[in-house]
Parts: sequence; C-alpha cells; structure tokens
Amino acid sequence: MRIDILTLFPNMFDGFLNESIIKRAIDKGLVQVNIINFRDYSTLPHNKVDDTPYGGGSGMVLAPQPIMDAVDAIKTKESKVILLTPDGKKYNQSMAYSLAQEKHLIIICGHYEGFDERIRSIADLELSIGDYVLTGGELPSMIISDSVIRLIDGVIDKDSHLNDSFNNNLLDYPTYTKPRVYRGMEVPSVLLNGNHKEIEEYRKNEALKRTNERRPDLLDRN
Ligand code: ADE
Repeated sequence: MRIDILTLFPNMFDGFLNESIIKRAIDKGLVQVNIINFRDYSTLPHNKVDDTPYGGGSGMVLAPQPIMDAVDAIKTKESKVILLTPDGKKYNQSMAYSLAQEKHLIIICGHYEGFDERIRSIADLELSIGDYVLTGGELPSMIISDSVIRLIDGVIDKDSHLNDSFNNNLLDYPTYTKPRVYRGMEVPSVLLNGNHKEIEEYRKNEALKRTNERRPDLLDRN
C-alpha cells in the first residue's frame, strides 16, 4: 500500500514514521508513506497557500489551487482521496479495515481556519476522528494511517488484531501477565488452569460485560 499525506507541516511526521511498528512496516516494504508539502505545488505569488475569506470574517482559508494541483499530480485510478475535517464522517475500526484494502490513499490535512469549499469536490471521503476541533489534519492523518497500517498483512501478528477492541462491536477482554499476584491483586484463576475452552468462555463473557458497562452503544449496533 502507498499512503501520500498532503500537509504544510512535514516535520510533524518525523516521530510517527521513524519509530516502532510503523517504521518496521516501512522498512519491510509493506507500506510506503510519502509526506508531501502542498506548498510546493502553489503557483500563487510567493508560494502562497491561503487567503482571506470572501464575504469577510477572521482567519485565513486554504486556497483550492495548491491542494487540487497536488492531488491531480499524484492521483491514479487506484487512489482514494480522503479529506480530513471535523465535519467529516466519524472514523471507526470498520472503516480502518475497509481502507486497509485500498492500494493508494491520498490524505489531505486541512489547516488554519478552514479550506475553500471547492476542495471537497476532489475528495472520495471526508473523515473526522472525533467531535473536537484540532489545529489541523496532521494528527488525524497519523491516527488514520496508524490504524490502517497495523491491519496490513505482515505488519503485526494477525491474532493480535483479530482480538482488538471494536471487532464484532465488542471491547477487548482483560489481559494479565506475570506476576500472578501484584499489590494484592490476583490474576483470575481461570487463566491459570490451561483449559482453553473455559478461558475462551471467560474472555467472551468479560468482553460482553465490559462493553455493556462502558459502551452499551456498541451492543446496539449488533
Ligand atoms: N481537523 C481538525 N479537527 C479535526 C478532526 N476532529 N478530525 C479530522 N480532521 C480535523
């Protein structure tokens, strides 16, 4: 898979691309991530990327030309263009699974007070990562890329994401490691008895119980 991220702040991605699982996936050639500064595509004086809003009002608005020309330059028949905006569709795990099937994602990070409405015309999908407003789309683009990259075959052990929270609309069951007793808190004995059927049953029940307590809205989706 290839992911192209269009941003005005390429340095924000240094840590994301150079650590841990994402770095390993890139090094293994399982994903290619390109950070593209769309200022480089500006044909406006001084490589300008924004201007004042028509009709007045505060702040600057991202102009259509740099972003739309950048997308035209990198888009192929296989590309899916995603625009990040707080008024997009709310992102979730099932969208991560669906995006992980794509060959090429182009992710546009908005910034400043907004973007020219005409930029929406080139997006296949508008996504929001939640009901709050960030200073730009950079963090959302990392969140979406991270959640997608970890689902690509070979990036992490398949078993570890089959049991993820939100699969089948359930939260994850509780997990423990050594020691058996810590600060007076014991590992449930069912996990120590080696009976795989009982362990599976226990985990299923705990996942249901936890979802019921913390996110009953997920159960309504089943
Ligand atoms: N840009 C600013 N806030 C955002 C959000 N919540 N989701 C996606 N993009 C954004």
